[in-house]
Amino acid sequence: MKKVLVIGGGGREHAIVDALSRSPQVGKIYCAPGNAGIAQQAECVALKDTDVEGLKAFALENGIDLAVVGPEVALAAGVVDVFKAAGLRIFGPSKAAATIEASKDFAKQLMAKYNIPTAAFETFEDYDAALEYVKKGSFPVVLKYDGLAAGKGVVIPETLEEAEETLKDMLLDDKFGKGKVVVEEFLTGPEFSFMCFVDGLNVYPMTLSQDHKRAYEGDKGPNTGGMGAYSPVPLITDEDLEFSLEKVMKPTAAAMVAEGCPFTGVLYGGLMKTPQGPKVIEFNCRFGDPETEVVLPRLESDIYDIFSAVADNTPMPEIVWKKEVTMGFVMASKGYPGDYEKGFPIVIPAEVEKTARIYHMGTSVKDGQFYTSGGRVLMVVGFGADLQEAHDKALAAVESIECDNLFYRRDIGWRVL
Ligand code: AMP
Ligand code: GLY
Repeated sequence: MKKVLVIGGGGREHAIVDALSRSPQVGKIYCAPGNAGIAQQAECVALKDTDVEGLKAFALENGIDLAVVGPEVALAAGVVDVFKAAGLRIFGPSKAAATIEASKDFAKQLMAKYNIPTAAFETFEDYDAALEYVKKGSFPVVLKYDGLAAGKGVVIPETLEEAEETLKDMLLDDKFGKGKVVVEEFLTGPEFSFMCFVDGLNVYPMTLSQDHKRAYEGDKGPNTGGMGAYSPVPLITDEDLEFSLEKVMKPTAAAMVAEGCPFTGVLYGGLMKTPQGPKVIEFNCRFGDPETEVVLPRLESDIYDIFSAVADNTPMPEIVWKKEVTMGFVMASKGYPGDYEKGFPIVIPAEVEKTARIYHMGTSVKDGQFYTSGGRVLMVVGFGADLQEAHDKALAAVESIECDNLFYRRDIGWRVL
């Protein structure tokens, strides 16, 4: 039986642990650092996801057969390179390949060079030059900080004053860190998340999902890491899917090979179905969160085989998806994505797990009691023959969970219900 180490400690990692626990080959799952929900299914290890040397030492000492990386910060810290150099098997991209997410400018330059459809853009280091460019264009305009910002580095000003303020934050006051800004054309249309298992030139699509990035109902409020998701996405036709695979995901994998940084792991295409067809909004170098919590429960195949095929560069088995569909609601701490308090008790009725699956995103436990410990706290996933049924089950479960400091969007799935 195989021993697996999952790196990370959010809802995405809970869903990965959950999928691995369904594999008949997997005997023991460790998760570093994990969380209170993950601890019900795996042994949590008190190591930070960016403690690359500590993780390597743990894997060597414990005879880990395979490591699976969740968060981009661990990938950007080079965990895959360090594990591979030590002869350890690991699923995820190298530090160089992870740049496709870590630098928006790198991703945009790559798309420009290889004709991958995306919004028109220009990159700036200088505040005055950026402001000049914005003044010449139209509003709204999209301003993206060129670095990792947990989904919060994108601002879409409606007015020049607002744009000026954001550019100041990003380029003069370094509020997100020291970095460039990508100024992008504003596109319209429904977004969808297209995650693929990628091994160099080989691209194996997962079923589609759709996230809800804005904090409040009606797609209002600031951008977040994601407030809810569902899978599949009926708005996206077979033709859109074919285009997205053939004109976006496969050429991007090929471009990474051509650039000398072949991608291995999950390549996440954040796409928008614009009136001119699907275009790339962003690439991520890992599973999406909360998308993973609605996609992996639908996976029929053994995920250990899939991870192994990518990690070992061996043939991929057929990937089979269930007919059952999913929808999930994120319950977040009041104040998120801004400042919020932690440590509020959460009561999850025992019956909830009969009709929904609860993935813990940010919880801790003391004396058998769960507490909030993050911005996003729980992802509550319902299952059904159709999205309405999945929605109703998830919402009923959400409403039965008691906590004084959580909020959620009730309109998850509004585009398709
Ligand atoms: P990103 O982190 O690049 O995915 O951006 C976060 C969110 O901002 C996206 O999910 C979109 O909703 C929005 N966004 C980003 N780029 C654009 C664009 N060019 N046009 C319209 N909306 C965008
Ligand atoms: N839910 C969007 C992301 O994982 O980046």
